Amino acid sequence: MSSAVSFDDHVAIVTGAGGGLGRGYAKLLAARGARVVVNDLRNATAVVEEISSLGGKAVADEHDISTEEGARGVVRTAVEAFGALDAVVNNAGVFPACPFLEMTWEIFDLMQRVHTYGPYFTTRYAWPHLVESGHGRVVMVSAKATLWGETRHLTHYGAAKGAVLGMTRQLAMEGAEHGICVNAVLPSALTSVEHPRARELARRVGADPADREQVVERSTALAAAVVAWLCHPDCAANGEFIRAQVGEVRQVSFSMTHGINDPGLTVEAVRDGFDAILDPTGAAVLAPLWRNQAPL
Ligand SMILES: NC(=O)c1ccc[n+]([C@@H]2O[C@H](COP(=O)([O-])OP(=O)(O)OC[C@H]3O[C@@H](n4cnc5c(N)ncnc54)[C@H](O)[C@@H]3O)[C@@H](O)[C@H]2O)c1
Repeated sequence: MSSAVSFDDHVAIVTGAGGGLGRGYAKLLAARGARVVVNDLRNATAVVEEISSLGGKAVADEHDISTEEGARGVVRTAVEAFGALDAVVNNAGVFPACPFLEMTWEIFDLMQRVHTYGPYFTTRYAWPHLVESGHGRVVMVSAKATLWGETRHLTHYGAAKGAVLGMTRQLAMEGAEHGICVNAVLPSALTSVEHPRARELARRVGADPADREQVVERSTALAAAVVAWLCHPDCAANGEFIRAQVGEVRQVSFSMTHGINDPGLTVEAVRDGFDAILDPTGAAVLAPLWRNQAPL
């Protein structure tokens, strides 16, 4: 039998861990031996009490990660409480759906601050400690809304979560020389977020769709297994995008079609070749360049 995955002597921050997926991530990491900073604007203490009652070690932190001071604060909490930092899960999120024409700058900006600036600030202040760790791990959280969204009115959310994918690939390159791996997870679980296939997914995790607590517990635990592995020093994946939907785990990639190649290109040639430009037959998967697999 293979050995169990352990996080003994590891310190992890999970932002937005007062409920939903973040709570699931924090609980699993703590159950496997990590000392965890449970960050959230609300409910962090309750999750810490839950972890402690199960024999785990955790500390609550109520900083707002969408501000530079708040992000610096959550990293300070980790170092003051546990003396080190090995992993950061940038999970905190907000979801005010809004039709595009009703979207004010304030609504758009809030989404960028929480989903893009938050991970940037938190990872920025964590970075020196992750370098010191020698096996630092960063898990970014993106969403299918960026790539193949099925929910409307999330232009601001799709934009912010798209930025997270770009940040992941670039930071992965910089992290490699320090033993730091940076990956993104695209989770799906039944939490506070309305899911268009809620009943189907509840049944899939063996939960009664009417039992909210059971549904949240089971669906978040499945995503947590993926996030925990991405936090582990033995996980060498770097710059990857991983979809984690109630037990289904897949790599997500960008691809580039074979397209057309015409040195004398005219607008008519683009018009006439557009079907070929879009034709996915033989498309190349755009893996991180450092794997020397990209076709450029
Ligand atoms: N649930 C899904 O199916 C799904 C799908 C794709 C992506 N995601 C992503 O997963 C993450 C968690 O989602 P969830 O479904 O658990 O949502 P959730 O609303 O249940 O949990 C998000 C938590 O983040 C906290 N938070 C919000 N702003 C914060 C801030 N500024 N500082 C600290 N904490 C803050 C909230 O208080 C909340 O407890 C989000 O980034 C979300 O975009 C979720």
